[in-house]
Amino acid sequence: MRSDLAALFIIFGGSGDLAQRKLYPALFNLYRKGYLKESFAVIGTARRPWTDEHYHEIVMASLEGFEEDDETKQTFTSHFYYQSHDVTDAEHYETLKALAAKLDDKYQLNQNRIYYMAMSPRYFGTIASHLGSEALLTADGFNRLIIEKPFGRDYESAKALNQELTQTFDENQIYRIDHYLGKEMIQNIVALRFGNGLLSGVWNNQFIDNVQITLAESVGVEERAGYYETSGALRDMFQNHIMQVIGMLAMEVPVNFSAEDVQREKTRLFRSIQPYSPAEIKQNFVRAQYAETTVDGENKPGYRQETNVAPDSQTETFVAGKVMIDNERWCGVPFYVRTGKRLARKETQINIVFKKTGVNIFADDKSDRSAMAPDVLTIYVEPEQGFSLTINGKEVGQGFSLKPDQLNYQYDKQMLADSPEAYERLILEALNGDGTNFTHWHELAASWQFVDAIRQVWDADQTPLPTYAIGSMGPKEATDLLASTDAKWIFDPTQTKNKNCREVCV
Ligand code: BG6
Repeated sequence: MRSDLAALFIIFGGSGDLAQRKLYPALFNLYRKGYLKESFAVIGTARRPWTDEHYHEIVMASLEGFEEDDETKQTFTSHFYYQSHDVTDAEHYETLKALAAKLDDKYQLNQNRIYYMAMSPRYFGTIASHLGSEALLTADGFNRLIIEKPFGRDYESAKALNQELTQTFDENQIYRIDHYLGKEMIQNIVALRFGNGLLSGVWNNQFIDNVQITLAESVGVEERAGYYETSGALRDMFQNHIMQVIGMLAMEVPVNFSAEDVQREKTRLFRSIQPYSPAEIKQNFVRAQYAETTVDGENKPGYRQETNVAPDSQTETFVAGKVMIDNERWCGVPFYVRTGKRLARKETQINIVFKKTGVNIFADDKSDRSAMAPDVLTIYVEPEQGFSLTINGKEVGQGFSLKPDQLNYQYDKQMLADSPEAYERLILEALNGDGTNFTHWHELAASWQFVDAIRQVWDADQTPLPTYAIGSMGPKEATDLLASTDAKWIFDPTQTKNKNCREVCV
């Protein structure tokens, strides 16, 4: 990683929540770790008529959690400039251009620009067009566009947005951010898969029975009902984060670990996902909404009781599904996925469930020689980070029976303390011109097409939306999804831990 990076960041949505919660702390981390030195500047733009002084106070407040002294923070903050900006008004881009040129000289930014769209998606296209028509892109440095989700709300709108962006930016200048791809353990998937002969040899349908991906959240919709009502869990979490996790788990070995090769393999994979007929969608995808629930004697509001949610809202807050991949490696292996709000706890976990060997020669009951726990590789993404391998061993003592043991490796807190947060990592990668952990348009197009088919079936479905209790792991229908095979969800925080499993930490 280079540490002599110079760039001007123009953040559209500079007064917003994302900028304050994620982007400013991420930039500060890059600064305190020395990736950004003196050659950087930030222009925050938004509608609010703030002064630079007020903007500095906001940026300072966003750094509250850091231990650095105020002087360091103030030196960092002095690189920030604010411009009140109406994104639809061409004249404002002239002012922005003049300020950008001035900062280029002042901080010797080599005409490098990162345009960051961190605001309402309805303006993404307008901003990109103006950046082109008002000639903000520089001739000599790099010009990169980082764009937040949602990237469209279906295939057609995503395609239209992409066409608008590509009038000004080439595909390799567009960094479509999916913060899951910046998480340590999601990045670790490729290390596990392609860095271990032991695993790469068995990473296929000959040895793997099923794959399970859970992105569980304990929070509800919070203050974001306005957005969430138009999105739902399918668009909010499945179309992007879950699809990308499937991509990392299932793509073929890329020629190199480079943007071009990784994005090509993920695109090939997404195109191999088995399309479902409407009847198959009903069978293989489940949606539900959290209902008013009494938890420990306290009444918790359901989704429909949340502020700004329609009392008859049909928006799903939970989705589970079975994704099948029609290629040689994965044919016949279900990828079970689920995500939802107000579930038992916040946890992202991946379980690779291996096929059982043919016969349990140790079984007491000779009529049932198949009874044996499957081997499971678990990838703990968050909050714990690490992995475990659950394998069978001999029960200690007389007799001879099998018992699952867990080889468990968790990254220790010390090690993780300075591990970059997802935004910090991804912004640095964009600064370095490395698009490996960003999403190519072709990946996005394929994932929207898959999601659109589900959406259409759900939108036409008149049957009442299933509900689930707050603090559960979703509706019964999500458990039933697995019932056609003898699989079950491995991650189940509503059950007490399997007492038969000994844990061995390595
Ligand atoms: C966002 C979704 O993309 O991801 C949110 O819009 C969700 O609804 C969030 O809460 C979850 O991210 P994480 O990193 O907390 O798992």
